[in-house]
Amino acid sequence: MTALAYGPDQASDPVAQAGRRRTFAIISHPDAGKTTLTEKLLLYGGAVAEAGAVKARAGRRRAASDWMEIEQQRGISITSTVLQFTYRGCVINLLDTPGHRDFSEDTYRVLAAADAAVMVLDVAKGVEAQTLKLFEVCRARRIPVLTFLNKYDRPGREPLALLDEIEQQIGLRPTPVTWPVGIPGDFRGVVDRRSGDFIRFTRTARGATAAPEEVVAPAQAEVDESGAWDQAMEEVSLLDAVGANLDHESFLAGDTSPLFVGSALTNFGVRHLLDAVVDLAPRPSARPDQSGRPRALEDPFSGFVFKVQANMDPAHRDHVAFVRVCSGRFERGMTVVHAASGRPFSTKYAASVFGSERDTIDEAYPGDVIGLVNASDLRIGDTLHQGTAVVFPPIPAFAPELFATARARDTSRHKQFRRGLAQLEQEGVVQVLHDPDGDPSPVLAAVGQMQFEVFSYRLEHEYDAVIELSAPRPRIARRTDGATAAQLRSVGGCRILARSDGALLALFESPYWLQRLQTDHPDWQLEAVLTHPSGTT
Ligand code: G4P
Repeated sequence: MTALAYGPDQASDPVAQAGRRRTFAIISHPDAGKTTLTEKLLLYGGAVAEAGAVKARAGRRRAASDWMEIEQQRGISITSTVLQFTYRGCVINLLDTPGHRDFSEDTYRVLAAADAAVMVLDVAKGVEAQTLKLFEVCRARRIPVLTFLNKYDRPGREPLALLDEIEQQIGLRPTPVTWPVGIPGDFRGVVDRRSGDFIRFTRTARGATAAPEEVVAPAQAEVDESGAWDQAMEEVSLLDAVGANLDHESFLAGDTSPLFVGSALTNFGVRHLLDAVVDLAPRPSARPDQSGRPRALEDPFSGFVFKVQANMDPAHRDHVAFVRVCSGRFERGMTVVHAASGRPFSTKYAASVFGSERDTIDEAYPGDVIGLVNASDLRIGDTLHQGTAVVFPPIPAFAPELFATARARDTSRHKQFRRGLAQLEQEGVVQVLHDPDGDPSPVLAAVGQMQFEVFSYRLEHEYDAVIELSAPRPRIARRTDGATAAQLRSVGGCRILARSDGALLALFESPYWLQRLQTDHPDWQLEAVLTHPSGTT
């Protein structure tokens, strides 16, 4: 494998630097192997020398990644962080996403900052219903997706059936680049469809070091693996016949997904996947601004905030905004403009952030992510820039599906309650709604139940405010305007609530009633997609 060509004169050229960036996120159902794969990518990226170190460091890293106690208790990852390492001359930015559907909105925001995604599926489970929403998010963003069929070292499902399932359920056409030889439970290795070679699977104890890859010519594989090889060849010719072949253009368009078979635990297939990230995943390109005009990579620095998070470091009670760089060269200490307010913003405290660990970052290029510490004025979707003004489009929010009323248990803690509420709303932990003419208690709106749990937990542990939450109720939310809201109030059958930015939401209990109103009054504004309350528009 060759390293990407890159000359010393290009050291600070944003276009050359963008060319060597690959920024992607891993999405998967909890337990499919995202953490294991991340560790192995680090191993292959040379970020750590051997798996003992990976484990030790992973232990620390994982603790850092799962910095929030609730994550440790539930064994899920809610917070997103970013890892950077180099591989074959490329700078790889790996963005972490929460692996649970309840946090799909968070995943959506992270994907706004990624150029590609790796979807990890457990070969025994396939596409799990709970995670479908995360994959739909990928489809909605039309983000190029690579698929990694994990845990091939142990019994699993029939691979052709899995391909069907991916296509049917996600609407993404898998194009296998490697194909398994041997039945699930008796895995022999893979055939690389590009070369026809057989890559033998050797069981390494938990993949202590990068797996030695035994590449066997097809004629020899036929002798060594006879029955299993013949079966694999039959399946491969079936794939050829239906045209399920690697196609770069349709991959970039988000229609097909190059698929790799492997076992993250034993390192098998990890190198193939990483090579595919370098060779197939798109490099950062000029990002369209709000009016659709692309911001050229060589333009002065610009970037947008895709995540904010307070209190990551409990000792310092800080506030970090994660910014994806879109153009130019970022240099720590430079003063940039906060597009929403027009005010200058100092970047003295720029860092790379992983959980509660952080290192100072001195420079960054398109595709990179910087953490701006103590950036309490920055909101999700905000643009920062130097030179010619630019505003990137806001990151759309999901329509919330569950609603619960919150009250501070101890009224003397009302101030803390308010402060926490404002902060957690800003982070997008939940959306906060008010009834303009009724109960003054805020109504919390979320996509999934666990968002409420995180909200309550953080309010109690970070703001010392214990809350009482009514049982969350499912409702259908539609964004509306003042005129329609007045009409809706007169016909009834829904509740009108206001977001802190003034946007009005109509909450319907009955889908039929909503449908009927839409049929009878096509001119009423009842919009399904909502923009984030802290977006710039
Ligand atoms: P997640 O981040 O997606 O939630 O998954 P994670 O990597 O934590 O993996 C979940 C479990 O699956 C772990 O086992 C892990 O070792 C195992 N696993 C991951 N990849 C493979 C694979 O390729 N083959 C096999 N056989 N297992 C795999 P655990 O028992 O929960 O944890 P541990 O004690 O092994 O660390």
